[in-house]
Amino acid sequence: MSTTETWPAPVQDEIAQAELTPWLKDKTAVVAGGGLSGPEGGVGFAMAWLFARAGARIAVLDRDTDAAQRTVEAIEDAGGQAQAFAVDLTDEADVLATADRVLDAFGGIDVVGNSVGGGGITGIFETTMEDYQRAFDVNLGTALLLMRAVQPHMNDGGAIIHVSSGAVEGRGPGLPYTLAKTALEKLCVGAAATLAPRGIRVNCIRVGMIWGAFAARGLTQERRELRARSVAMQKEGNVWDIASAAHFLCTPAARWITGQVLPVDGGGTVAPNAGQAGSSS
Ligand SMILES: NC(=O)c1ccc[n+]([C@@H]2O[C@H](COP(=O)([O-])OP(=O)(O)OC[C@H]3O[C@@H](n4cnc5c(N)ncnc54)[C@H](O)[C@@H]3O)[C@@H](O)[C@H]2O)c1
Repeated sequence: MSTTETWPAPVQDEIAQAELTPWLKDKTAVVAGGGLSGPEGGVGFAMAWLFARAGARIAVLDRDTDAAQRTVEAIEDAGGQAQAFAVDLTDEADVLATADRVLDAFGGIDVVGNSVGGGGITGIFETTMEDYQRAFDVNLGTALLLMRAVQPHMNDGGAIIHVSSGAVEGRGPGLPYTLAKTALEKLCVGAAATLAPRGIRVNCIRVGMIWGAFAARGLTQERRELRARSVAMQKEGNVWDIASAAHFLCTPAARWITGQVLPVDGGGTVAPNAGQAGSSS
């Protein structure tokens, strides 16, 4: 099937092209929000690509069917196996039905990568209660509905990754997003404890200031440069930096890591040194 708008799959990064140990051979990975939603690539797309390179069959879940199909085509063109599943992950009945469709297509599930999320930056007191509800539905509800639907069908020893944000630091604006991502991190800790007896690990990646489809939709070039300079490493990351961490956390290389939140953020935001306080000179 051909999509309405296409562009070359953005897989030139050295991480995208690296040889990977086939840790996920004969495994099934579900990637929620795995569609390729813009030419810059998204976190979910990059996760799907790396999981496929590690040998997994990929179920690409996305409400944007064109985006999901683009990811499938990119993986198939590279010799991998993938299938698109259209789903609104905020809709419980849709999520349950989609889990059944994935099981019919692929059998048991081993890995789940969930990159669905997003939110606005309206000031704390200007934001409506509907905005708060929407932020929780998109960033927290999706993760909970997805895990509830798939975990009963996951093979022991599987792994789940969710995607949070450096916005959890919470200096606003955009507090609904901050609160929802903070709750998501706690959900990961709780789910990890619950699923640990089955050997299923749950971790969360706290994403810093990366360039990707999400950022490209709302960032001027000036803000982009400012953002890059405010990170300790003085440069922005990209979707491959996040997917690389997700890949590691989903392989047996991370077999004793669960319930953790891993910031992948180039060292985080640093304020410029404003003086010599404490210096003897
Ligand atoms: N890019 C950044 O700077 C940045 C920073 C911090 C955190 N994040 C987080 O990273 C994640 C992904 O960001 P991205 O840049 O890859 O964005 P993206 O827009 O490329 O990916 C999100 C995908 O999720 C899909 N989606 C959204 N709502 C859905 C729903 N209800 N049901 C099914 N699919 C749905 C979209 O169609 C899209 O394909 C998000 O959770 C975001 O909050 C991004």
